[in-house]
Amino acid sequence: MVPSKLHALFCLCSCFTLVRPFDWQDLNPVTHIKSSAWVNKIQALMAATSFDRTKIPRGNGPYSVGCTDLMIGYTKKSTLLRLYYPSKDDTHHDTLWIPNKEYFLGLSKFLGTDWLMGKILNSFFGSMTTPANWNAPLRTGERYPLIIFSHGLGAFRTIYSAIGIDLASHGFIVAAVEHRDGSASATYYFNDQAAADTANKTWLYLKTLKREEEILERNKQVRQRAKECSEALNLILDIDHGKPVKNLLDLEFDVEQLKDSINRNEIAIIGHSFGGGTVIQALSGDQRFRCGIALDAWMIPLGDEVYSRIPQPLFFINSERFQFPANIAKMKKCYLPGKERKMITIRGSVHQNFADFTFATGKITGHIFRLQGDIDSYVAIDLTNKASLAFLQKHLGLHKDFDQWDYLIEGDDVNLIPGTNINTTNQHLILQNSTE
Ligand SMILES: *[C@@H]1O[C@H](CO)[C@@H](O)[C@H](O)[C@H]1NC(C)=O
Ligand SMILES: *[C@@H]1O[C@H](CO)[C@@H](O)[C@H](O)[C@H]1NC(C)=O
Repeated sequence: MVPSKLHALFCLCSCFTLVRPFDWQDLNPVTHIKSSAWVNKIQALMAATSFDRTKIPRGNGPYSVGCTDLMIGYTKKSTLLRLYYPSKDDTHHDTLWIPNKEYFLGLSKFLGTDWLMGKILNSFFGSMTTPANWNAPLRTGERYPLIIFSHGLGAFRTIYSAIGIDLASHGFIVAAVEHRDGSASATYYFNDQAAADTANKTWLYLKTLKREEEILERNKQVRQRAKECSEALNLILDIDHGKPVKNLLDLEFDVEQLKDSINRNEIAIIGHSFGGGTVIQALSGDQRFRCGIALDAWMIPLGDEVYSRIPQPLFFINSERFQFPANIAKMKKCYLPGKERKMITIRGSVHQNFADFTFATGKITGHIFRLQGDIDSYVAIDLTNKASLAFLQKHLGLHKDFDQWDYLIEGDDVNLIPGTNINTTNQHLILQNSTE
């Protein structure tokens, strides 16, 4: 399912050789690892090729976008999130996309590859930036709608910046939570206050599950994830109320700027994959989320009790390649009389079209490793963002011009399929089979 499909995605070893063959014999791991000379060698090689690495897109909206990280409390139960927000100026340097090498090591574990792969990924993507002004001051004087964002399995808080930045450029504050349920490739906390003071991080890597644990554990995780989303919301609303908090990450960004920055009636939740399932779990337990958008949601972790407990409007935006009948059948279980439900499918898209990885490699590499589909990645993310904005305006009651994209919510575009591409005629049968 999600994890096994993703295994192939980052086998970049072989993909590097596809882009530009080089001699692996030359890189004797035993003698070269420690000196990391081989890393320099690969970097030099890659720089020499015109590796057509593309870029994470800028927001399309009128606001400049700032970005910072917040960690309040030091334990595993603390809240760690990346914040995208409308910023006062555009003069700060861009944000480091994946800020610690441990995230790459975590990715290599997630992909079932050697730690060496983590080092290679780090050497390629460790200095890549995303177009948001790091720690720029908040643009004050306006209350913004708030989005809590939940990442997918094997992901972490920073890799949905194309969505976070676009929403912030349209006047949203977006809090991308990093989950501590063992589903992130990597995340960290501090053992105690002293460790926090010296920035001595304790890393928590992806928890691998045995097959027989899957159903129970994934359900536990999705519930913890929803709780973490609600806690992130509590925290931001506290800050909005003026409660003094200390950001353990000790960044230049003054958290107090966020006082009176949130429109408390305009709160929604968005998530991708496992995060899409988290959206549904969170909506069922926390009515402060006025609506939700589930991007290529992975529904299997959800318990049967949630489907009848979602009064809020819910929007499914799916990729064409990832979905399967049992999953779609569970989405359909959310469709209850009198409840607002919408579903669209982006033609020619793959599961990773919603995450930044789709912009991190060239076309050929992206295609081979299913980071990109047949549709242009920029077109796909644009459709996702505009359809989301239209849906958010409608259900948060915003006074903006996002209703110009209302037709996208209906799937009325050459690149969209209204509803799903999956045939669920036999969904009852399929549902039964899937729970066996
Ligand atoms: C960091 O914390 C670990 C225990 O969590 C400890 O063993 C190590 O000595 C600490 N490192 C520093 C530099 O304080
Ligand atoms: C969907 O599946 C059913 C049963 O397998 C089949 O009868 C029907 O023709 C299919 N519909 C489409 C649009 O493919």
